[in-house]
Amino acid sequence: MKIFMDTANVDEIARFVDWGVVYGVTTNPSLIAKSGRSQAEVIPEIAAMVAGPVSAEVISTDCAGMVEEARKLAKIAANVVIKVPCIPEGLKAVKILSAEGIRTNVTLVFSMSQALLAASAGATYVSPFIGRLDDIGEDGVQLVKNIVQAFKNYGITTEVIAASIRNLTHVEQVMLAGAHIATIPTKVLEQMIQHPLTDKGLAQFLQDYANSQK
Ligand code: E4P
Repeated sequence: MKIFMDTANVDEIARFVDWGVVYGVTTNPSLIAKSGRSQAEVIPEIAAMVAGPVSAEVISTDCAGMVEEARKLAKIAANVVIKVPCIPEGLKAVKILSAEGIRTNVTLVFSMSQALLAASAGATYVSPFIGRLDDIGEDGVQLVKNIVQAFKNYGITTEVIAASIRNLTHVEQVMLAGAHIATIPTKVLEQMIQHPLTDKGLAQFLQDYANSQK
């Protein structure tokens, strides 16, 4: 399972790129707003920081507007992927962009039916939102598992990005569910490295080494 960062904050991305663990990045209009910068400023910087896909979301809700925005965004860098909402106009845009060789990430996916429609329109990626499903009492991880299995059953090559991840359990469960990618917020990525026994064990090793030098 590849790790993407779910943020538009370049300082946060730089920190984890240094760890060597970040393959790609997903952004959305809320994350861009949180960064305090514009999409036009941030996306080229992020695209230069990672080798893998960087999702930039369109804000138009009609097919023509989405396609126009997508063509401009795709020109920023070869690794920019266009995030399109899972609505009828979005599917139409995905079909056009896919025919032009522009990769898409269909976002705001909350059901297997939506995932199938997105894949059928030619989406490169689909993003089921697991945290938001959990929020309404549904099982987000199970949806990821079901989409992965259904795509396998039919040889569908669209990759599944587990999105709206809120905690370590989500990361570990979507790994078991077979997600191709998890897009992880910075706070959760920070938690992934931590274990008290690692800290305790390292302190002991260093103490024993120091004692052996006396
Ligand atoms: C990523 O593609 C999504 O936009 C993001 O994971 C949504 O996360 P949220 O539900 O925490 O806003």
